[in-house]
Amino acid sequence: MTTIENIAVIGAGIMGHGIGLEFAEAGYAVAITDTSTAMLDAAMDTVTTTLAARGRNPGAISRIRFTASLEEAVRDADLVIEAVSERLSLKEQVFGELDRLAPPRAILASNSSSFMPSQMAPFTTRPDKVLVTHYFNPPHVTPLVEVVRGPQTSQETVDTVRSLYETMGKIPVVIEMERLGFIGNRLQLALFREAVALVTDGVCSIEDVDTVIHSSIGRRWSVAGVFEVFDLAGLDTLLAVSRALFPDLSTATEPPDWLVKMVESGNLGIKSGQGFYEWDTEHSEEARRRIRTALTVTGKSIEVTR
Ligand SMILES: NC(=O)c1ccc[n+]([C@@H]2O[C@H](COP(=O)([O-])OP(=O)(O)OC[C@H]3O[C@@H](n4cnc5c(N)ncnc54)[C@H](O)[C@@H]3O)[C@@H](O)[C@H]2O)c1
Repeated sequence: MTTIENIAVIGAGIMGHGIGLEFAEAGYAVAITDTSTAMLDAAMDTVTTTLAARGRNPGAISRIRFTASLEEAVRDADLVIEAVSERLSLKEQVFGELDRLAPPRAILASNSSSFMPSQMAPFTTRPDKVLVTHYFNPPHVTPLVEVVRGPQTSQETVDTVRSLYETMGKIPVVIEMERLGFIGNRLQLALFREAVALVTDGVCSIEDVDTVIHSSIGRRWSVAGVFEVFDLAGLDTLLAVSRALFPDLSTATEPPDWLVKMVESGNLGIKSGQGFYEWDTEHSEEARRRIRTALTVTGKSIEVTR
């Protein structure tokens, strides 16, 4: 297996800064880079504050270097995690640059939420070393990483990355057959599509959907998976309900117009102050605190600072 000592994170946004800080806490040398100096500066502040609040490893901050130069960031990397914005053309370009600039031994991983290894591997000369490592936000709190192999990813690459995450205390799930959205986002988006249909049809409000989730199924899913929950309910009941409901569930192939219009008019959620809900500072902080507390109970302790 490849020895991992130096890790480069490309993109210092919501995901990149958290991915980087956790590797530094685990004892790795980390370089974080971004094309936006404003994002790099913000990441530096947030990483410093978050590491101090977590207090797990006082030396962690000294293991991170922030640089605007991609070349400098990946020069000595054994593993590169790409966490740039979710546009395939950008990922293709970045993977081409990483292949040119990173050492031939380096594994090139993408934190893409949806794109598959086979969509990025052709832009490199090392498809055996390309895979997806898909984290969930906040990445330094949520234990799971989906490790997705493409058709050309080598077993050595998968084993190296899986073992790295196991050593750090993450929970890696290796997905042997790549598929858009992997597991977590396919499940999440299937639920979202049905939620959208219920709201669009006037069956219930957005608030009703969220209340139902966090007061029932979501609460159960934090401790037991969908199959375990249904084993408790009884498969005869499950089969009957499946027969009744499957034909009635949404099969929409496009997001609704109202969501398209929201995004076009700049209503992007917490980052713009308006999404499905209104987000003033107080509400934003309360939501972050509530989620952080719940994640601390169910997973590792965390400080969500952005
Ligand atoms: N936000 C989430 O909840 C979440 C969860 C899992 C996975 N992801 C995935 O992680 C990736 C990053 O998402 P995010 O939410 O952190 O986005 P973000 O917008 O917060 O950060 C993306 C960063 O990439 C930088 N960037 C753009 N082009 C670059 C380049 N050529 N080189 C270096 N940096 C560049 C941007 O300046 C920005 O700082 C995406 O692929 C996304 O799908 C996001």
